[in-house]
Amino acid sequence: MACAEEDRCSYEVCKETRDWLCARTALRPRTAIICGSGLGGLADALENKTVFEYEDIPHFPHSTVAGHRGRLVFGELRGHACVCMQGRFHGYEGHSASTVTFPIRVFFLLGVEILIVTNAAGGLNPHFQVGDVMFIRDHISLFGLAGLNPLRGPNDERFGARFPCMSDAYDQELLGLAQESAQELGFQSFTRQGVYCLLPGPCYETVAECQLLQALGADAVGMSTVPEVMVARHCGLRVLGLSLITNKVVLSYSSQEKANHEEVLHTSQLRAEGLQKLLTHLLGKLGEGTACP
Ligand code: HPA
Repeated sequence: MACAEEDRCSYEVCKETRDWLCARTALRPRTAIICGSGLGGLADALENKTVFEYEDIPHFPHSTVAGHRGRLVFGELRGHACVCMQGRFHGYEGHSASTVTFPIRVFFLLGVEILIVTNAAGGLNPHFQVGDVMFIRDHISLFGLAGLNPLRGPNDERFGARFPCMSDAYDQELLGLAQESAQELGFQSFTRQGVYCLLPGPCYETVAECQLLQALGADAVGMSTVPEVMVARHCGLRVLGLSLITNKVVLSYSSQEKANHEEVLHTSQLRAEGLQKLLTHLLGKLGEGTACP
């Protein structure tokens, strides 16, 4: 069922997708997880799975990027009801901001309370190593500062308020639990905290751009996540964000390094198991249960 890009985020369209899903699975997820580049394996670890291909779900966009499979997976991890996106949508694929964030509003209507976003990112902080996992403390949206915001346009109060607060975008309690989980698993050597900066992509950054982002106070740079977080906060979801540092950005003209998607996928594969353990442990802490729609 085709749907015009600008209509995709209307309450009625989101509700149609919600109703279609609810008619096909009894599971009511409490947490939604967006699996970033090469990190879709987490969804395979769910128990009692129900899997939907994006192309079969009414109004759902299609994913076009290598490393993003295009499936919505419902299931449980440690008894915690989840829905995982194996493949996300990016502005650089040509999707509008309402298409990129459409699944978040569907999750909200499904009764989801927590959004966990994962992504692959380039490390700007000189202390970060390839393979580090950065818990996102805050973000800088260069899109947003330029007026490109997924919440631009008429506001539907059924989703949230006209002027949502973003100073608390990343939930302190979830961040604390994630750090506690890292400690309990002995993962402190590769877990960090920092500020994620969104750039539109699909080009990786120039040396001068990387220097600028460092000066702005960003620790990692990527091409996703922020629009979904803004829409999630608008509709009251609590957010935890994790960036896997898949490469160090190039900060010197004499460097022989060149950012590339193969390196991003390779690092994701190396750290995927650790990240999966971390999130499974964390969900265990959040306790059993499904959402109460
Ligand atoms: N820049 C932007 N996006 C990315 C990078 C990067 O270096 N690595 C993974 N995603």
